[in-house]
Amino acid sequence: MAQAIELQKQRLQFEMVKNKIEAKSIHFSYQGVEILKNIELDVKEEEFLVLMGPSGCGKSTLLRLIAGLEQPQKGDIIVNGVSSTQKAPDCGVVFQDYSLFPWLSAKENIVLALKQKFKGKKTKKELQHLAGEYLELVQLGLSIKKYPGQMSGGMKQRAAIARALAFGSDLMLMDEPFGALDPLTRIYLQDLLLEINRDQKKTIVFVTHDADEAIYLADRIVMFSVGSAGTYTTSVDVPFKKPRNRKKMLASREFTRFREHILNIMNQGLIDNLEEQHEVGLDGEGI
Ligand SMILES: Nc1ncnc2c1ncn2[C@@H]1O[C@H](COP(=O)(O)OP(=O)(O)OP(=O)(O)O)[C@@H](O)[C@H]1O
Ligand SMILES: [Mg+2]
Repeated sequence: MAQAIELQKQRLQFEMVKNKIEAKSIHFSYQGVEILKNIELDVKEEEFLVLMGPSGCGKSTLLRLIAGLEQPQKGDIIVNGVSSTQKAPDCGVVFQDYSLFPWLSAKENIVLALKQKFKGKKTKKELQHLAGEYLELVQLGLSIKKYPGQMSGGMKQRAAIARALAFGSDLMLMDEPFGALDPLTRIYLQDLLLEINRDQKKTIVFVTHDADEAIYLADRIVMFSVGSAGTYTTSVDVPFKKPRNRKKMLASREFTRFREHILNIMNQGLIDNLEEQHEVGLDGEGI
């Protein structure tokens, strides 16, 4: 009961804070193929929002739209009160393909982000020192001189995370950032990210396919499903108070039930989609 009241309090506190991101009636197509149709999404300041959904449903596309790297054909995305169609928002991004500059070492990649952040206010030596600290944070202290071509997938991912952190924005967009990591590094970085969200008051939008990771990290999970009328979303608050104890949470019956609930929503989306395809087949209009 106390837990439920505490959760309700946390949720009410969120509802009172400003929206960091407002995506309004977003329509987006690639070369005439509709990817996102009428998507609405609000993200509160300091919220940790996780996006889930089947491959190809448009999660990365939505992150690119929020970052101002693509423009919606219809609708608007407001970040910090400004339309991302007018000005690309200040945000740290970690994309699926890491997007490190291959001709720069791990350290130089971070220094570049720091240069953009401090705009001449720090000396070269200070920037180098700070870059080293960010790489230490993601346990890459021994690989600062390596170029992306000399790093494993997991190392590149960690360097990309360090760069996004170094950029210092209060908004982080992260597209499956821990997908290629070994379980121990993944756990370490999940906890680091929760600390950053809490202590540095960053708003985080994070994509994952892993339900356990989503539940451990998120304040709220938004699931994408693909129906005949286009992509739609279902938003679910995560009913576990933060800070969370990973071990206790994973062992609890509430966790098992909630996980099932999340997977049911995702599966229902897939089943609806398959049934729609089947109906078309029965009418003789399908394959
Ligand atoms: N540059 C592009 N040009 C044309 N189509 C694209 C482009 N990028 C993505 N798409 C298409 O847009 C759709 C959504 O892609 P997106 O990368 O957003 O999916 P996703 O939900 O992130 O998938 P995943 O979970 O596999 O990463 C896919 O059908 C994909 O083929
Ligand atoms: Mg993607």
